[in-house]
Amino acid sequence: MSRRISSFFLIGEILLWLLIFGVPVLGFFSGFFWKIFLGIFWGCLVWARFFEPKIIRVRTQKISVSLPKFRLAVISDLHVGPLKKRKFVARLVEKLNRSGADAVLIPGDFVWGDAVKFSPELVPFQNLKIPAFATLGNHDHFAEKKSDPDQSAIVENFLKKFGVRVLRNSAEKLGKIWIAGTDDNYSHFHDLLETFKKIPVGAPVILLAHSPSIADEISPALTVSGHTHGGQIRVPILGAIPFVIPTKNGKKLEKGWYAARRIFVSGGVGEVGLGMRFLNFPEITILENVPLKKS
Ligand SMILES: [Fe+2]
Repeated sequence: MSRRISSFFLIGEILLWLLIFGVPVLGFFSGFFWKIFLGIFWGCLVWARFFEPKIIRVRTQKISVSLPKFRLAVISDLHVGPLKKRKFVARLVEKLNRSGADAVLIPGDFVWGDAVKFSPELVPFQNLKIPAFATLGNHDHFAEKKSDPDQSAIVENFLKKFGVRVLRNSAEKLGKIWIAGTDDNYSHFHDLLETFKKIPVGAPVILLAHSPSIADEISPALTVSGHTHGGQIRVPILGAIPFVIPTKNGKKLEKGWYAARRIFVSGGVGEVGLGMRFLNFPEITILENVPLKKS
């Protein structure tokens, strides 16, 4: 793990554990209403750190785009690392095998931290019984910051070894549909001309790109992205907390299906930072296309 990520992780962990142990102590010395408030806060904290990130939800999202009928699973932002290990990946793979999907699309961010140390945690992908198409994310390129050495080749090689098809500005066919994948567009490694080079004009295409900002550059029949983690911590009605989504579009493309822009943004299955999720379960989404009727 790079020095920066390990110190950031350590400080975060210390603060979190101070809160987890400190809040009940504060509650002991507080008045009745403070006790209730601190109790709820503590419960949410413990749930968000120790329970919700482990619960994998499978949800079907019906969409209507001008592509042939399909049933495709989407997962994103696994972030294997100090928090997510191969046990979690094995549960994901098991659920994907039982999902009845034709294939799974994974728009990047496989690791959080040192690729050499953590990529082997992706080994359960070798038990996946459906084809997997992936692009890389910003965390797959760098350990944490731009001056760290590019580690994308390490992640790519492990994924290929485990049977995942890695698309880096390239495309492959899945039945009648082309799956086009850009390299990480958050850090500008993407090349759309190269990505679409071998796809015949007018052919059915699904575009995979890590950051949903790709929707500002191109809008094919369907785009699948991740990167946002849905904000990780969500609140009722508001969804993601303002200003935490790390893209230009921010909350405009935070999580879910945006029919007008024909883009699906996965809330992901992994975490970075404090490793918490609230009202935002790790999710396998089954995109089910009910094709548009031609008039
Ligand atoms: Fe991510």
